[in-house]
Amino acid sequence: MVKICCIGAGYVGGPTMAVIALKCPSIEVVVVDISLSRISAWNSDQLPIYEPGLEDIVQQCKGKNLFFSTDVEKHVSEADIIFVSVNTPTKTRGLGAGKAADLTYWESAARMIANVSKSNKIVVEKSTVPVKTAEAIEKILTHNSKGINFQILSNPEFLAEGTAIQDLLSPDRVLVGGRETPDGKKAIQALKDVYSNWVPEDRILTTNLWSAELSKLAANAFLAQRISSVNAMSALCEATGADVSQVSHAVGKDTRIGPKFLNASVGFGGSCFQKDILNLVYICECNGLTEVANYWKQVIKVNDYQKNRFVNRVVSSMFNTVSGKKIAILGFAFKKDTGDTRETPAIDVCKGLLGDKARLSIYDPQVIEDQIQRELSMSKYDWDHPTHLQPMSPSTVKQVSVVWDAYEATRGAHGICILTEWDEFKTLDYQRIFENMQKPAFLFDGRNIVNVQKMREIGFIVYSIGKPLDPWLKDMPSVA
Ligand code: UDX
Ligand code: ADP
Repeated sequence: MVKICCIGAGYVGGPTMAVIALKCPSIEVVVVDISLSRISAWNSDQLPIYEPGLEDIVQQCKGKNLFFSTDVEKHVSEADIIFVSVNTPTKTRGLGAGKAADLTYWESAARMIANVSKSNKIVVEKSTVPVKTAEAIEKILTHNSKGINFQILSNPEFLAEGTAIQDLLSPDRVLVGGRETPDGKKAIQALKDVYSNWVPEDRILTTNLWSAELSKLAANAFLAQRISSVNAMSALCEATGADVSQVSHAVGKDTRIGPKFLNASVGFGGSCFQKDILNLVYICECNGLTEVANYWKQVIKVNDYQKNRFVNRVVSSMFNTVSGKKIAILGFAFKKDTGDTRETPAIDVCKGLLGDKARLSIYDPQVIEDQIQRELSMSKYDWDHPTHLQPMSPSTVKQVSVVWDAYEATRGAHGICILTEWDEFKTLDYQRIFENMQKPAFLFDGRNIVNVQKMREIGFIVYSIGKPLDPWLKDMPSVA
């Protein structure tokens, strides 16, 4: 029986291994992590991450061919194939601070693999930020190999949160990068054999190591660039009276462009886009490609601009001050159908409003108070470390309350900011909400999910990204 061990039981490792276990009953899959609380949660009925469809699969396979354990060394030493999916935070000090990936966790995982291995292994890089990681790991392993043959593969993950299970069950492509030596080719084939249990042959692409890694950075940079492009257009639409939804619909009809991923928003978030682009920028700079680096930097600048613009719209509409005013925040996750808050635009928007002394009442169907408080008090980049190694959260932010109902969040509020496109926000009783708010009542839709016309009929003053402006907002500055 082939044994797979995955180091890192997070958003990537957990769902990916669950699907491999489901589709390959003859393979034993063990997911290991240094975080006891994460592993305990995987072994309980309350999984540590929310992902539609995941619970079903875990329930079907757990205890049969899918196991979760903190005994990292035992399972690594027994495995034939080891996936590594540990944190790759952005460096906060030293060379490349603010951009380059910190490979501390990767390096310690690689050294541990070298120490405990007694048989040949295939080591698969499946981290979120590949930056010549495979090559670095190959060096650590081969210099400590004690005669063991280690083959390194890069197998970047393209799943998107909220649709992870669907993406894993029916991927657009699976990418396997490896060495072009006979042993390298054998390792590539071994991993292809795992995926070919359910992925059609023509969707499994093989490349060299660095091409696989760079493809992942490139794909995320292209996707983020699309959002920054449409968000840049949204600012122009507001200034000129066009409607960004109409513009992106028309643009997306061009088959060369396509309709997906063109929704203007308050900005993109998530653990990948910003980090991947920062790494791309760093790699370009290290290679002397200043113009290329600046090109990609602009994608992040526009994203920051979009978040600032949103905060400025809120403050300037409400008579240039939100001091002491209650503002309801609907949605804190970085997108719908996930409880993940890493790099969510809600952090910057909330911090911006708190900077202007607002009182925030936050509701998100999947995010608990502790997590919101941590996000609002943590320093930039601290989120990407194993939970037990993160700095303790300092005092909670007092002007923030977290509630479990949208009606509660909006009661007595001066304004509402919709920051995540949860389906339930589309069908709220906005008439009832309006009646329970201070007047004038403001609605700022950062995800374009409400019907602007209907909301205006109810009586709200409405701002919706990239839509023709309410007369109230026309002369208010949106850029600081
Ligand atoms: C992304 C990539 O899609 C995935 O392939 C990769 O493996 C990891 O990074 P993820 O971050 O989970 O996945 O979510 P994604 O659906 O890409 O959304 C990222 C951000 O962009 C979210 O904040 C989302 O709300 C925002 N977004 C997306 C928009 O603002 N507009 C859009 O049209 C699409
Ligand atoms: P991703 O989104 O890439 O899956 P996560 O942060 O959700 O990232 O998961 C990474 C996981 O890796 C965390 O649960 C962390 O505890 C774990 N981890 C980090 N370093 C090690 C290590 N050396 N051994 C085992 N697990 C590790």
